[in-house]
Amino acid sequence: MSTPADTTGNDAKAGNRISNRPLIPLVVGRALGGSAEAAAEVQRAWLESLRAAMTECDIRPLAALTDEERATAQVALVATPDPDDLRSLPNLRWVQSLWAGVDDILAAKAAPDRPPPWSIVRMRDPRMAETMAEAVLAWTLYLHRDMPAYRRQQQARQWRPRPMRRAQACTVSILGLGAMGTASAARLRAQGFSVCGWRRRAASGALSGAPGTSDDGQSGGQSGGVTVFAGDDGLRHMLAQSDILVCLLPLTAATHSLLNHDTLAQLPRGAAVINFARGAIVDSDALIAHLDSGHLSHAVLDVFAQEPLPADSPLWSHEDITILPHIAAPTDKESASVIAASNIRQFLASGRIPESVDRTRGY
Ligand SMILES: NC(=O)c1ccc[n+]([C@@H]2O[C@H](COP(=O)([O-])OP(=O)(O)OC[C@H]3O[C@@H](n4cnc5c(N)ncnc54)[C@H](OP(=O)(O)O)[C@@H]3O)[C@@H](O)[C@H]2O)c1
Repeated sequence: MSTPADTTGNDAKAGNRISNRPLIPLVVGRALGGSAEAAAEVQRAWLESLRAAMTECDIRPLAALTDEERATAQVALVATPDPDDLRSLPNLRWVQSLWAGVDDILAAKAAPDRPPPWSIVRMRDPRMAETMAEAVLAWTLYLHRDMPAYRRQQQARQWRPRPMRRAQACTVSILGLGAMGTASAARLRAQGFSVCGWRRRAASGALSGAPGTSDDGQSGGQSGGVTVFAGDDGLRHMLAQSDILVCLLPLTAATHSLLNHDTLAQLPRGAAVINFARGAIVDSDALIAHLDSGHLSHAVLDVFAQEPLPADSPLWSHEDITILPHIAAPTDKESASVIAASNIRQFLASGRIPESVDRTRGY
């Protein structure tokens, strides 16, 4: 019969034996979810689902492993890990992130001037991309159908129909046309919105497998019904025609504070912003200034430079900001565990590390 200690893998006995199954540490950040208790609960739930998907491996929390056991680990499963924890695994070759965003893991250094020698494999789960697409559609409709204004009108007991605009007359622009951006663009197109997208490379034919006619990317080529832009000029062109701007970029050196006073000023008056990527991509002071001046109409924010959002943040009480607690596209434990299991199985059989993050470009 399994005991509570068996379920967490934290018992001293389990920690003191070397298993005959490949040992895979699970490294969960101590502050994940905002407290040690929340992190312990996250760890417990992940252990259960990862163990169910990988019965041939011995998955245990890092804290339960001896130094001898840590030395056997070549791969670790990680969720917002503390860098010191990863440094305690001397023979680590790669980490499987349970999240899609890996900016925090990329920031970990082996020494102040040297990145660690291990590779990072991020979670690529089509189910997560569909969840993100659903969230992007839901909050785009929230803005397009003027729900923030109707909420305010209800509070003031005002009966005032607002002008109706067709989806086709509304341009929704997506920053980042990767797994999340591509799925979201397809969902918005199916709803009838005019959709633009911005990516790093000016490549063609990348969306929905449709033949693309993208040229240099600056002027906007068509790909699967989406007008695709790239580069600084492309960004300027796209921002100038965006009614709703959706951020789905990874946080990198190039995207940090990308949405600042200048770029937000390039949006048309009355535009709205949705940030479902990472908080540090948006300069929140600049955002508040543009909302206060009436240049921007509303912002839906799911991600913040500091999470949980501190209670004294001015973002909480701004009437033109909707705050969400990082819930746009939560990882589905069941499907993500199956994907992580498949990656690890492939590595154990062949020694090949799955496609990993490019440390130079930062995603
Ligand atoms: N809020 C949530 O619940 C949640 C959930 C999941 C993910 N996320 C966030 O969403 C982000 C994106 O995820 P993803 O899976 O779609 O990533 P991805 O597949 O790696 O796609 C990244 C996209 O961003 C573009 N890009 C990167 N750097 C750029 C730059 N400097 N200029 C222009 N475009 C740039 C890439 O361009 P190319 O196509 O040219 O490479 C690519 O299209 C994650 O990093 C994470 O932070 C949030």
